[in-house]
Order: sequence, then structure tokens, then C-alpha cells
Amino acid sequence: MKTTPRIMVAGAHGFVGCRAMERFPSAIAVDSALLRNPGHALQEFVCAHQPDVILNAAAISDIGVCEKDPEGSYLANVVLPMTLAAAAEEIGAKLISFSSDQVYTGCVGRGPYSEDFILPEPTNQYARHKLEAERRVLDIHPSAVLLRATWMYDMPLYGHANRGNFLINTLRAVMQGNPVCVPGCQYRGITYVRQVVSLMDPVFDLPGGVYNYGSENALTMKETAKALLKVFGLTGHVQDTEVKRHNLWMDCTAIKEHGIFFDTTVEGFQRCAADYGLG
Ligand SMILES: NC(=O)c1ccc[n+]([C@@H]2O[C@H](COP(=O)([O-])OP(=O)(O)OC[C@H]3O[C@@H](n4cnc5c(N)ncnc54)[C@H](OP(=O)(O)O)[C@@H]3O)[C@@H](O)[C@H]2O)c1
Repeated sequence: MKTTPRIMVAGAHGFVGCRAMERFPSAIAVDSALLRNPGHALQEFVCAHQPDVILNAAAISDIGVCEKDPEGSYLANVVLPMTLAAAAEEIGAKLISFSSDQVYTGCVGRGPYSEDFILPEPTNQYARHKLEAERRVLDIHPSAVLLRATWMYDMPLYGHANRGNFLINTLRAVMQGNPVCVPGCQYRGITYVRQVVSLMDPVFDLPGGVYNYGSENALTMKETAKALLKVFGLTGHVQDTEVKRHNLWMDCTAIKEHGIFFDTTVEGFQRCAADYGLG
């Protein structure tokens, strides 16, 4: 990839996208209306701007919303990345599109799961659509990179929608004097979104395919919540919700082989606390 690739961001106002725009301030943001009607006009917009890289962080990423509106989810989570893939293929751009660790929800083991794990059908609509998008995008545009991201977190940004994340949910529970409720036995990685974005440059050079992309975490969610409290110097009670959840712990060896190294989940908490002067 050339030293200053021309970057286009889809989903530029979202949780990941707005941080990507901070990281790549000269990136072109795709118009929100074009994202919601992914067709010829979107393809024309992409082709007119001739980006070298298209970073797709647009989605309906709320699992509950996707359950209630499967057609809307299909449009945003399958048709939109397919349209961007077709445009990327046409102009010789590289598409980087976010998938999710939710594709592992059909697995019954503890993990960690690598990308070549034979996936049982995921248990929710959002994840089924993310998995279908991975396959369809690669059929259209074999050099596309699909990033299976973990649950991500950051402090809230002033003036931005704040949907909640593991850090905010934990801080809020402590501030309100409530227990921090987690499915105590679940294994999953949780990743500092600023590291997700800061490691993006080498992603542009990854060979086409699907990659687990985020922090690895060998701790249970109960241990993870306790570690977060400790890193931020907080006192709180961690309560096991006893909700049976699938393990989503991903093996990220493949990206490491390409020189992309994430902190572990707990190291990520430390990095985040230090970034905000709280460590
Ligand atoms: N957040 C997480 O913890 C997490 C975890 C795993 C995977 N992911 C994946 O990472 C990517 C970024 O997630 P995020 O949390 O940043 O998402 P987000 O904040 O929920 O939304 C991202 C953007 O998607 C666009 N969008 C919303 N509704 C749309 C629709 N109906 N049709 C087309 N576009 C629509 C909007 O772009 P505009 O602002 O430009 O209108 C929105 O800002 C997504 O692919 C998500 O599935 C996220």
C-alpha cells in the first residue's frame, strides 16, 4: 500500500467510524443516506472518489434491532458490504469491512476459536448476516479483509450517542452503587477501540480473507470485570448473572503472523486508563 492511501470511511459517525475519522482526518466519509439505500448511487459515489481503501464500519450492530428487523439487518449487514465490495472490485480498491465475534455464537466449546474453525449456525440474526456477508463479500472481491471484531469499549465522546459498552456499563454500575452484572463463566475478548483503529494501517496490506481482530482474553467475564475495577481503582461488587452465554474467545494468531499485535484485554484496560490519565 502506498504511504498515504486515499481512505474512504462508511459509518463515519458511528462508534468505530468516528474514531477512524480522527485517526485518518483526510478520509472521505460516505454520505449516511447512501448507506441506508445501498445501490447504484453508492457505487457511483465510491467510483467517483477513487479511494485506495474503503473502511466499512457501517452496520446495524444492535443484536436486538436485527432480531426485530431482519430485512433492515440484511440490507445494512449483507447488501451494503456487498455493494462496497462490488465498487472496490471495479476500481481496484481494498475493502476492509467489520464482521463480529458473534459469528462464533453457535460454538459450544470454551474457545479460543481460530478463523478456520468449522462454524455451526450462529444463534442470532445479526451474526448470521455477518457470516453471510463475509462469504458474499469474498466471492465478489477476493482481496477484501473481513475483521471479526470483539466487543469494543472507550470512554464516552462528548456530543456523540453513547450506547454503552463494557467500560461504561461497569463505571455506571459502580457510580449508581449497583453490582456489576456479568455472565460470570463466559469467555470472550473485549478490546479498546482506540487500539482497533490505531492498528489499522497494517490491516490495509493483509491478504484477502477473514481475520479474528482484537484482544485475546483467557479470563472469565467475572475475572475480567474484577480486573477492570482494579485497573481503574474502583471498588464494586461483581455479580454473576448466571445467564448461559456462548463463549466468543478468539484465537488471533493469524493477525499476529502479519505483525498485528493487540494488548490482552487486561493490558487494554491499562492502556485506556493511562490514555485518559486515570491509570
Ligand atoms: N461496537 C462493538 O462493540 C462491535 C463489536 C463487534 C463488531 N462490531 C462491528 O463493527 C462495525 C462498527 O460498529 P459500531 O459499533 O461503530 O457501529 P454503530 O456505532 O452502531 O453504527 C455504525 C454506523 O453504521 C451506519 N448505520 C446505522 N444504521 C444503518 C443502516 N440501517 N444502514 C446502513 N448504515 C447504517 C451509521 O453510519 P453514519 O453515522 O455514517 O450514518 C452508523 O453511525 C460494525 O460492522 C459492527 O457490526 C462492533
